[in-house]
Amino acid sequence: MPYVTEHNLTDLAIERWGNIPDPRLRQVMMAAIKHLHAFVREVEPTPQEWFAAIDWLTRVGKMCDDKRQEFILASDVMGVSMLVDALNNRMPSGATPSTVEGPFHIPNSQEFADGADMARGAPGIPCFVTGTVRDLDGKGIGNAMLDLWQTDGEGLYEAQIGKDQYMRGVYHSRPDGGYCVRTVAPIGYTIPMDGPVGELMQKTRISHMRPAHIHFAVSAPGYKPVITHLFQRGCEYIETDVVFGVKEPLITDFVKKDSGVAPNGETLTTPFYEVKYDFVLQKAASAQKAA
Ligand SMILES: [Fe+2]
Repeated sequence: MPYVTEHNLTDLAIERWGNIPDPRLRQVMMAAIKHLHAFVREVEPTPQEWFAAIDWLTRVGKMCDDKRQEFILASDVMGVSMLVDALNNRMPSGATPSTVEGPFHIPNSQEFADGADMARGAPGIPCFVTGTVRDLDGKGIGNAMLDLWQTDGEGLYEAQIGKDQYMRGVYHSRPDGGYCVRTVAPIGYTIPMDGPVGELMQKTRISHMRPAHIHFAVSAPGYKPVITHLFQRGCEYIETDVVFGVKEPLITDFVKKDSGVAPNGETLTTPFYEVKYDFVLQKAASAQKAA
């Protein structure tokens, strides 16, 4: 083996890291070495700068625990989470697109009847989300599961407020695919800025806000599940979402009503929002083969 020089070091490292029996790990590591070396050759960091990078990554790791995931946040704000999502969820046109899951989903939410109120007194303007879960041919999908989570009207998730079963719930579509959720309207919120990711963001002119949205995980037997958001059209942060999550088909109108009969049949004397959205699922790969 030749001794190293500035010029042959990258080739030597890639060759050495090619010595991995597992073909996928070999591919990943050879690409990682290639691109990391290219990055260092382009930036030419000083030893102090390289140590600062290692120190930042160390602090990102130390910020993580079972409730806080600073590495996911770093991946989100650099657009990597959405790129991984995009590459893994190439949908046919007409299907509801996916978007980033984010760190706030909690499994095993309480079940609510069609039209019931999952906000249960949380602060915010009442908001009714209605529509149909259907397939690409327009046929309604009965008993589809809609798992929702969101902020309250003050921008806080359950994990940030220390309550149990807060601003989240599971609904099922009616036999014709229709669904009706009562909640409160979410608002835009900031990503956590008290860690090393926030410290880095403070050195930029990048907005650290997310536009108002409701998270949905929609699934039904025989169909590919989708994890997505509905965004409020007109929110001031919609064009600068810090995690790059906004896709045009997911922007919905939050139509304000002064009072009156709501979609679940209740009569409200206060203002409320109505949001209409059809979730369109594609058949699962195994179901497509069987069809
Ligand atoms: Fe969110």
